[in-house]
Amino acid sequence: MSAGGTAAGADSLLKAYRDFSPTSASLAERAQQVFPGGDTRSSAHYMPYPLVISRAEGCRLTDVDGNELVDFMNNFTSLIHGHAHPGVVRAIQAQAPIGSAYAAPNLKQIELAELLVDRVPSIEQMRFTSSGTEGTLMALRCARAATGRQKVMKMEGGYHGSYEQAEVSLVPMPDKRGSVEAPLSQPVDASFPDSVLADTVICPYNEPVHAKALIDRHADELAAVIVEPVLGSMGMIAATTEFLETLREATHRHGIVLIFDEVITLRLDTGGAQSLHGITPDLTCMGKIIGGGLPIGAVGGRRDLMQLFSPEQENPVMHASTFSGNALTMAAGLAAMQAYGSDETKRLNRLGDRLRAGFNEAFLQSGIRGQAVGAGSLTNLHFTEGPLNNARDSMAGMIDAGRIARLLHIGMLRRGVMSASRLMYCVSTAMSESDVDLAIGALNETLRELRPIIEAERPALLLAAASA
Ligand SMILES: Cc1ncc(COP(=O)(O)O)c(C=O)c1O
Repeated sequence: MSAGGTAAGADSLLKAYRDFSPTSASLAERAQQVFPGGDTRSSAHYMPYPLVISRAEGCRLTDVDGNELVDFMNNFTSLIHGHAHPGVVRAIQAQAPIGSAYAAPNLKQIELAELLVDRVPSIEQMRFTSSGTEGTLMALRCARAATGRQKVMKMEGGYHGSYEQAEVSLVPMPDKRGSVEAPLSQPVDASFPDSVLADTVICPYNEPVHAKALIDRHADELAAVIVEPVLGSMGMIAATTEFLETLREATHRHGIVLIFDEVITLRLDTGGAQSLHGITPDLTCMGKIIGGGLPIGAVGGRRDLMQLFSPEQENPVMHASTFSGNALTMAAGLAAMQAYGSDETKRLNRLGDRLRAGFNEAFLQSGIRGQAVGAGSLTNLHFTEGPLNNARDSMAGMIDAGRIARLLHIGMLRRGVMSASRLMYCVSTAMSESDVDLAIGALNETLRELRPIIEAERPALLLAAASA
């Protein structure tokens, strides 16, 4: 096919998307007047414009054009039961008329904390925050106060929230990231102070030998090592137990606070990913699912560390935040977590396995290089066949795919499957096998549709036998 033919192919897919969502298209123009880029949240934005949603129930979203979509986005993994779960709705309805926020303790707050302390091995005491961002921020402040040290080690490609230190080297560009033995601290945008870059040591993910060497080298200045048990933003790449054990051993040896960011991974087991690996960090950050769909975050861990937040201590670590522990979120979160016990966790993880198996088969059938990776209920697509161990592997697939990934995303939307534009799919308890199978069918069709464009534009994405 000629280059012109390819452009026409991609154009026709964009036109098909516009035809599918005319009301969203016109609302996108209106939104452009009041929001930079037409959206109030950059992470949820995608090209050419996002679908505007009018309602949601269970695992289904309805957009303003009346299209129904199965929701594999789940507000970036936070809706463990999908939308409007009856138990959560009842809890919110019971709480709303008696007040949403008291700036005082409430019973639901204590009950939700008791449930989490009971379930998550590392948590002896905890604090709620209003977002995961605040949860990781408070964990880092606690670690600095506990150790008297300044620097923090985070993983290349790791994401811990909307502030600079939580995002250093989130997107490790090949020409800027340095060697894998000692990656450079890279800003994500032009807002990063040099001091933050200097205070952040970057560690390659899933590289135990390099991690140990880096921790040993920087030990005297490191307050904390923070790590996601599954590298979320960079494509749901699971850590090996060996890697996490290495971090545990080295931090323990040097008196560095080990923080597991389980904002995403708490859903993998009732006790979070730490239970699956049998490794106990010093602090654990949580968020997303524990709020039942309302804004939340949390930090918990060793009693002696958490006691640093106690206002009854001399010189406590400051922890404020107007909506932390608000009664409405606590009621929703408690109902959601009570409905997410061991059986549901296992069922959900099996649905995730089914989704990955079906997606992998779809790539094989299509003759296009690609794979689905992840853990339990968390899945991400990658346009590469090679091993995916860290953010560099993930970046390689993204660069090879170019705009094909974007076309795949909107192709799936047209077929009634909502995911993150970075091709993250997570399942919710509102789903059954037939919802998962619908997504697998949609991927089969979308890859078939993309194949001529890939042949013309990105032949390197074809499997060897298929391109011959
Ligand atoms: C691993 C991880 N940590 C922290 C955060 C920040 O949470 P929030 O968006 O609630 O501030 C996120 C958000 O996506 C996350 O994925």
